[in-house]
Amino acid sequence: MSVQFEERRKIFKLDTAHTTYMMGITNEGYLGHLYYGDRVKHFCGDEALRLAEYPGPAAREREKQAFLSVFPFEYPTGGVGDYRESCLNVRNAKGQNGCELWFDSYEIMEGKPGLEGLPASFGNEKEVTTLKVVMKDPVLKLRVELFYSAFETEDVITRNVILRNEGNEPLTVDRVLSAALDMDDQSLEMLTLNGAWARERHIQRRRIGYGKQSVGSIRGVSSPQEHPFLALLSPSADQKHGDVYAMNFVYSGNFLAETHKEHMGNVRMVMGIHPEGFSWALEPGAAFTAPEVVMTFSSEGLGKMTRSYHDFFRKHLIRSPYKDLDRPILINNWEATYFNFDADKLLGIAKDAAACGIEMFVMDDGWFGRRDSDNCALGDWVVNEEKLSGGLKKLVDGVKALGMKFGIWFEPEMISEDSDLYRAHPDYAIQIPGRRPTLARNQLVLDFSRKEVRDTVYEMVYRVLKSADIDYVKWDMNRYLADLGSLSLDAEHHGELFHRYVLGLYEMQQRLLDDFPELLLENCSSGGASFDAGMLYYSPQIWTSDDTDAIERLRIQEGTELVYPMSTMGAHVSKCPNEQVGRNTPFETRANVALAGTFGYELNIAELPEEDRKKIPGQVARYHRFHSLIANGNYYRIHSWCEEEPWDCWENAEKDGSRALLTYVQVLGRPYTLSRNVKLEGLDAEAEYTVSKIQDGEETPVEGTFYGDVLMKSGLWMPALGDYQSCLFVIERK
Ligand code: DGJ
Repeated sequence: MSVQFEERRKIFKLDTAHTTYMMGITNEGYLGHLYYGDRVKHFCGDEALRLAEYPGPAAREREKQAFLSVFPFEYPTGGVGDYRESCLNVRNAKGQNGCELWFDSYEIMEGKPGLEGLPASFGNEKEVTTLKVVMKDPVLKLRVELFYSAFETEDVITRNVILRNEGNEPLTVDRVLSAALDMDDQSLEMLTLNGAWARERHIQRRRIGYGKQSVGSIRGVSSPQEHPFLALLSPSADQKHGDVYAMNFVYSGNFLAETHKEHMGNVRMVMGIHPEGFSWALEPGAAFTAPEVVMTFSSEGLGKMTRSYHDFFRKHLIRSPYKDLDRPILINNWEATYFNFDADKLLGIAKDAAACGIEMFVMDDGWFGRRDSDNCALGDWVVNEEKLSGGLKKLVDGVKALGMKFGIWFEPEMISEDSDLYRAHPDYAIQIPGRRPTLARNQLVLDFSRKEVRDTVYEMVYRVLKSADIDYVKWDMNRYLADLGSLSLDAEHHGELFHRYVLGLYEMQQRLLDDFPELLLENCSSGGASFDAGMLYYSPQIWTSDDTDAIERLRIQEGTELVYPMSTMGAHVSKCPNEQVGRNTPFETRANVALAGTFGYELNIAELPEEDRKKIPGQVARYHRFHSLIANGNYYRIHSWCEEEPWDCWENAEKDGSRALLTYVQVLGRPYTLSRNVKLEGLDAEAEYTVSKIQDGEETPVEGTFYGDVLMKSGLWMPALGDYQSCLFVIERK
């Protein structure tokens, strides 16, 4: 039984394979946090609630405020005397803010209910047990359902919250976060993923000080600047050692992830929809569902956290039929042509690609309306037959005749002022009447909170997809939200726009998948601005970054794969000098780095040097040889070039230890240097292995006798390489 309740002391205990989570109910009915950490067999006492400490129970009525401001609340509320970060702020019909929750009842169920309109993890009765704790505010007549789902094997506990107005008066929810974790001071550090366009998800680590430290987004998307992920670590934690408490948000809009170290030195960690710009009118009888947070704890450092997240997302969040399949190796024309193409040029690129074994051609931006630059035509999802003479079907059939699949780009959430759609429906754009809206990439955002807007766009997209045999859609989104104004919302409901927009987006993507169940959907947002767990529910892969430089990618992919499975990272080999940073890297290294994700190309093969072109068939074969290992095996981060020495190294090992692939990249070469020792992980200690090295496209056996324990403890020796050079080692059980 992974969820238990001890009646006598009123303590809930949730167990996964290696972790335990406990919370207790006080005599008054407060729900407090007791423990999250390594699995323990027995129930703990309630000392962590500090009920015997100042202010003692007798003084509690008189000194209730002092009590509220230190009690480790499971789900803290605002307005009545807890001054730390609140999860729930609710105003009554008179506009007065205050909410206090008391335990009402609980229910334990096998399996896990879905979340209406939202992406959510899933599992059957054997895989997950859910605890629902019902809390009530009798004054507001508000019912708050706290859900905790324990996924035993993956060491994950998901949390979400449903609010229900059980009264006769309207309530206004000013903030509703999805999870809090109150912890004693452990001198923790916080790890976040920060960045920018083309520099997404760089790992940042800092000491938690007094006060609030947060990452968040108020841009309408999860954003490349800050990422909906937060881990608190013991200061010495590394890949293999130390405690890690992590939260990840299954949501693609505004978010807040925060630590609050308060006056007693304790730390509260929270995650949820960002309260800035948010409010929700909760009418009598209505409910609001807050998105899900995925929590995990590891006492074996970041590596274990990563592997728990990878297993969890692969098994319990990603739904696509492509999830466990090799993805078609694609070639995308964006960096090869930008807007400057016609059908012949595209077919030429596809033909050269097919000859090298590439399996899918993706036509990027520029095929519709009068879209010859990024200044116009978004919203006009009608094929430009001047560019694609003979129409889309002719091009698709031409590509199919080469034995390739066909993919197409859309940016459904956007509208250009210079478009037929805007001329017909200027009100479809999010904007505030009378104010010149802020443009970004010369475009505006469609009001996806409105059904008629979604329907109009969907019809156009649907028609295009029905008109030819299309296998793949790249769903792009190239600006953030601003000038929040919607025709469909009155003043009382305007704070709902950000969230309603995200719900509209999810509804659109679900509709697309319902109508085209075999479609391979790849989300994208100016590169990787919407790489988040919410999107993974709809698309098994996401374009990781517009930065395709192999060296820049090392850092971006390291931060991304810290949380997300490698099979979700869109990664392409592009031309040199690189379009984003002008760097020249060996073709081999570009392919070795892209091999870590969903492998593809973003260039015109005809423009490649002959020696590079000749390497493509070997790279294609290598993807198929290793993809299932990379996609489904265990990932180990061996070294990060961002930390000390400029070399980068990671390993993918089969879960049974039968095979591993080690990728080694020398970012900067060094004169007068020795070979480098690398210790492998995840092998079978007793087994004997063969080792071979793949360098410059050649695979050569490494001489010697290699046992698993020796490879893991004594290590393997890497050759001295020059700037940007790389190689792969294949380790196979005999
Ligand atoms: C941004 C994407 O990240 C690129 O890959 C490309 O599709 C462009 N948009 C097209 O406008």
